[in-house]
Amino acid sequence: MLKIENVCKTFNQGTVNEKKALIDLNLHIKPGDFITVIGGNGAGKSTMLNAVAGVYSVESGSIFLDGQDITRQPEHQRARLLGRVFQDPMMGTAANMGIEENLAMAFRRGKRRGLSWGITKEERESYVEKLKSLDLGLENRLKSKVGLLSGGQRQALTLLMATLQKPKVLLLDEHTAALDPKTARKVLELTQEIVTRDSLTTLMITHNMKDAIRIGNRLIMMYEGRIIYDVEGEEKKNLKTADLLAKFGTASGGEFANDRMMLS
Ligand SMILES: Nc1ncnc2c1ncn2[C@@H]1O[C@H](COP(=O)(O)OP(=O)(O)OP(=O)(O)O)[C@@H](O)[C@H]1O
Ligand SMILES: [Mg+2]
Repeated sequence: MLKIENVCKTFNQGTVNEKKALIDLNLHIKPGDFITVIGGNGAGKSTMLNAVAGVYSVESGSIFLDGQDITRQPEHQRARLLGRVFQDPMMGTAANMGIEENLAMAFRRGKRRGLSWGITKEERESYVEKLKSLDLGLENRLKSKVGLLSGGQRQALTLLMATLQKPKVLLLDEHTAALDPKTARKVLELTQEIVTRDSLTTLMITHNMKDAIRIGNRLIMMYEGRIIYDVEGEEKKNLKTADLLAKFGTASGGEFANDRMMLS
């Protein structure tokens, strides 16, 4: 479903601030794979997702989505094929628009007619159903401005929007990291529900090692722009956080001791 082949991305090339964020990165993802991505600060996790989404162009290598070479495709074109949720609850939704309008925008993504076409009764009913499944009472607040929602409610809505039209790949970049623990758990449960229900191919960055082990069918660990560990199936399920820490330790010579991964 997604193939990243020999991708290199360097920021500020040729300056003193040069940073090789992705070094000859290779990753092949099968349809329906739910991959958790872990790694220390600056490992290249977000850069990998951004390279897939087309936020940055890459210097070399290729990215294929469902057999199509998207390496040179602009971000807006890829956006039709991808679902994205970021860490910041403010980013995925339009604060000045209502809940229903936000959903309608997501529903019309990549389609020709805009919002002026109006929201049909059937459409509204389907939104109400989907909002009910979140179990946050949002189905009774269709006209409420999204800016009035809590961070967790907004992330749940963003997740709904990102998956309203089944994306070929769902990209989640620490999408629960800014939420309080209880809300984070709820949004994470919701993520699992939606991904399983729609068999979505998913890449989820997390700094929580327990979640990374518990969730999904495959786990990759990044370090300094490379994938240094890739494990799936039973082997992944049987991992302990101590195993992951040991891997980190081997790769980094112990520098992970200060990393926030240790705290979660
Ligand atoms: N737009 C940018 N301009 C310059 N350097 C960047 C840019 N984005 C990322 N980098 C650098 O590239 C490296 C990889 O960053 P990236 O954001 O991918 O790390 P990460 O694994 O997501 O880390 P974190 O866990 O902190 O989110 C870092 O050294 C970072 O400083
Ligand atoms: Mg990041």
